[in-house]
Amino acid sequence: MAVEKALSIDDLRKLAKRRLPQVVYDFLEGGCEDEHAVRRNREAYDRQILVPRYLVDISQRNQSLSIFGETFSLPFGIAPTGVAAMVRPKADLLLAEAAAAANIPFIISGSSTCTLEDAAKVWPKCWYQLYIPNDLNITTDLLKRCEKAGISTLVVTVDVPIHAKRERNIRSGFVRPYTPTLPIILEGLKHLPWVWDYMRTGMPYQENWLPYVKKDIASRELMAIYATQVPSLQTWQVLETLRKLWPGKLVVKGILHPDDAVQCVNTGADGIIVSNHGGRQLDRGVCPIDMFGPVKRAVGDRATVMIDSGIQRGADVVAALCHGAAFTFVGRATIYGVAAAGREGVTRAINILQNEIHIATGQIGCPDVRKLGPQYLYRPGDWS
Ligand SMILES: Cc1cc2nc3c(=O)[nH]c(=O)nc-3n(C[C@H](O)[C@H](O)[C@H](O)COP(=O)(O)O)c2cc1C
Repeated sequence: MAVEKALSIDDLRKLAKRRLPQVVYDFLEGGCEDEHAVRRNREAYDRQILVPRYLVDISQRNQSLSIFGETFSLPFGIAPTGVAAMVRPKADLLLAEAAAAANIPFIISGSSTCTLEDAAKVWPKCWYQLYIPNDLNITTDLLKRCEKAGISTLVVTVDVPIHAKRERNIRSGFVRPYTPTLPIILEGLKHLPWVWDYMRTGMPYQENWLPYVKKDIASRELMAIYATQVPSLQTWQVLETLRKLWPGKLVVKGILHPDDAVQCVNTGADGIIVSNHGGRQLDRGVCPIDMFGPVKRAVGDRATVMIDSGIQRGADVVAALCHGAAFTFVGRATIYGVAAAGREGVTRAINILQNEIHIATGQIGCPDVRKLGPQYLYRPGDWS
């Protein structure tokens, strides 16, 4: 199937699967342990039911939303995905380019291979995601670099206190130190276009961390140093320190409990992304869409409350906005796109979601995503 024939995000997933060696596909697709959380994230959206209203003028439909003083053309953005360049060389920059063309937020991962400066050059409205390093000097320098690069919003991910048990990665051989075993090489040979890309460009390198290591360090050694820094011991005191160091907008990603959300706001966070990391961290973890209402009620209008994890359809975005989300993010959807067909694939993913939102809002009789709210949600208790 050609990328322009992909009708759904799942079609892009299939294209990505075909192009990638199993070990790489497993890394992007997988969750942890039994992968219940990944499944439940999807099921939680499948349970969202909309109540349509008819005889409304929906001839013009708006999808643009403003957050943190910026107006974006669509109500979803691209969540941070670390080591995206495993799926295609320069994947981070291809994601940034497609986000810039669509005028949607793009969050460059703290585990990206490209530098934050390069991402900000491609898309000046990009946000930077920080995995807090152990060494405060590195944190301070990263924040200074963000400021210098003109990045306005810092996203601190807190839902990786320790590494998860990602059994899929262990089974397929994606474990430190990353060594291509014979079975991985033989399987990789079934995906020659992917292999050819890396023969031309070399394997991805964590360029963003080069200022913190000695010159001409090997990729594997650099990754080992990174692993001594992240994950670090994260506490509320550390968040307070970050708040003092960072003058821009501060978003905390990975919050699920209303009390944590309130404490983020009390610590000075401007925004929260209710997220379970796409089900990749805690297999018994609750789904963000199920916790969104309680979090939003606890925080009220004191912070911008956003959501990700499990969004694969435009109607999922619509449902999340009906629950009160100020904005939504997708992780795998756009990574499937970049894996399948580079920038064109990301654009295809964005267009698929945009078109599905257009259809869903037309079907429920809502001409403007800013008017979505609980009135469009089917909640059995409300009708009995
Ligand atoms: C391959 C992959 C890598 C990820 N890397 C990061 C990361 O570096 N930082 C981070 O905060 N979240 C990371 N995430 C989580 C995403 O930002 C996001 O929370 C999640 O993918 C949303 O769920 P979805 O994939 O179902 O849309 C990653 C997710 C995937 C799939």
